[in-house]
Amino acid sequence: MILDLNGVRALVTGGARGIGRAISMALAASGARVAINYRNNTEAAEELGRKLGERYFEHMLLRADITQERLVATMLKRIEESWGGLDLLVLNAGVWVPGTFGAMTLAHWRETISTNMTGAFIVANDALRLMALGESSAPKRIIFISSTAGIRGESGYSHYAASKGGLIALTKSLAVELAPLGINVNCVAPGWIRTDMTAAALAEPATRKNIQKTIPLGRVGEPEEVAAAVVFLASRQASFITGQTLSVNGGALLVGG
Ligand SMILES: NC(=O)c1ccc[n+]([C@@H]2O[C@H](COP(=O)([O-])OP(=O)(O)OC[C@H]3O[C@@H](n4cnc5c(N)ncnc54)[C@H](OP(=O)(O)O)[C@@H]3O)[C@@H](O)[C@H]2O)c1
Repeated sequence: MILDLNGVRALVTGGARGIGRAISMALAASGARVAINYRNNTEAAEELGRKLGERYFEHMLLRADITQERLVATMLKRIEESWGGLDLLVLNAGVWVPGTFGAMTLAHWRETISTNMTGAFIVANDALRLMALGESSAPKRIIFISSTAGIRGESGYSHYAASKGGLIALTKSLAVELAPLGINVNCVAPGWIRTDMTAAALAEPATRKNIQKTIPLGRVGEPEEVAAAVVFLASRQASFITGQTLSVNGGALLVGG
């Protein structure tokens, strides 16, 4: 089975680092045109742009903070002007910072919710118009990147877990609402994946050992393993799958990890 994304016009939020970077690379390698959104790290975005350019993969780098409606509108306008529409939206951008309940300020709560959940809403809500444009016969897909925290909760990260659980509820709601438009909406929920986000936790040997104990496959995952799930859900082969959350976690939730 070859997952061919030729002709697909994709946008990946937070697409220049970590899981997003692996998703951008995998989509491009499968034939998609990829618009890579990032917020601050221009160096990482340009490095990825060079890498994709060397392989003649069609792409664009779009700087925008997804919590800012105006910046998102400008970003989407650029995609519309260049490609005339959009087929695939991957809502990946996110932050993971601790927060102790009872001592958490409203600003702290809002920072996580506005990036992980409201940011995904702002992009998807505005991009929907672009997904209805043009004559593309490419599969139409929205894919949210949630987390195991969104399924089982996460002590010390209640705001993060709430934001990721929100994405799962959004997935189920939109799967039904957008089905008449021919758009499949799914969610990928990674477990522990080796990126900048988890680098500090995984660098500490005792913590890493404890984390690995909660994962039946006995190791943390790589960003490419999450990207493979996204490519599948984006493909024609996933045409009858909608409203689902696909865990990519080495079996972690099966043992309560
Ligand atoms: N790593 C894990 O173990 C794990 C597990 C479960 C779920 N996840 C989820 O997977 C997604 C990617 O995580 P990761 O590990 O790859 O994290 P990461 O390495 O820290 O990368 C996060 C990405 O999100 C972007 N971003 C953050 N806030 C943004 C904003 N307001 N506007 C636009 N972009 C923004 C960052 O852009 P800049 O580079 O410009 O800062 C960066 O590209 C997140 O949603 C995360 O919650 C990760």
